[in-house]
Amino acid sequence: MSASTQTGPLRHFLQFRDLSKTEIQYVLDRARLIKNKFKRYEPHHTLHDRNLAMVFEKASTRTRVSFEAGMYQLGGSVIHLTTGDSQLGRSEPIEDTARVISRMVDLVMIRTFEQTRIERFASHSRVPVINGLTNEFHPCQILADIFTFIEHRGSIEGKTVAWIGDANNMAYTWLQAAELLGFRLHVSTPSGYRLEAARIGKPGADVLREFSDPMEACRGAHLVTTDVWTSMGYEDENEERRKAFADWCVDADMMGVADPSAVFMHCLPAHRGEEVTGDVIDGPQSVVWDEAENRLHAQKALMEFLLLGQVSD
Ligand code: CP
Ligand code: NVA
Repeated sequence: MSASTQTGPLRHFLQFRDLSKTEIQYVLDRARLIKNKFKRYEPHHTLHDRNLAMVFEKASTRTRVSFEAGMYQLGGSVIHLTTGDSQLGRSEPIEDTARVISRMVDLVMIRTFEQTRIERFASHSRVPVINGLTNEFHPCQILADIFTFIEHRGSIEGKTVAWIGDANNMAYTWLQAAELLGFRLHVSTPSGYRLEAARIGKPGADVLREFSDPMEACRGAHLVTTDVWTSMGYEDENEERRKAFADWCVDADMMGVADPSAVFMHCLPAHRGEEVTGDVIDGPQSVVWDEAENRLHAQKALMEFLLLGQVSD
């Protein structure tokens, strides 16, 4: 089935809040069903003959494998493009690329730099576009993280998530999720790396609390999470960041002041001895491998939702 035969309004997932709370809950429920069928080796070919184009302008392991395996498991197929092996690397405008690709496939996933770049693509696309990570947001990862939390601890509503480290694409996406789903986000960053006031608006203290001391941010948290100190695209700042973030390493002391039920998450790839100690990421509170696997199940549910809407079978 080609893109032009789709009915209903075109939906994208460029930021977490592009889906409503009810829609996120539907996708998470659907991810549970899809995961259960996957574990039973039951076919689930709801996207038979559909085609996903993936455009990577940055490196990836998890995002590529989870989208590619996921689309095949749904009965569809995948085309993989990078900047280097497409005309994007030779300055073809992103708008023209969107016009062309979206006439040929049913769905597009993009990993790129500025959020404005994926927005420009989406505004010229005939088919749904999924953000596979931009400098500003990583919504598929947070979808999988919340699915993982629910799997291990039940509803995230009313809980506290502690974000330790860089105010990066993950942190801003956690904030959108907290606002949408009703949990509290504690953020601790070095002083020069705080969330930008212009980007976050004025969330209430029931949504966001910022801490200069990472131990205080972790106190009582139900989920402690962190990420690399230097995200893709910021490699020139690596040395200064290593110095600035030295005290923002999630260790056993931080996990020790969190709620006794707390789990640890990291979107990966991780640098043991930098943003997290080996005993935490490889320890009993860590759920990072489930978190990584759940990219597959959550994104299968997301792709299905964007192409089919809510289905009951
Ligand atoms: N967490 C994540 O997005 O991993 P990749 O960069 O390997 O895709
Ligand atoms: N914040 C990291 C996440 C990698 C999955 C980055 O953007 O590089």
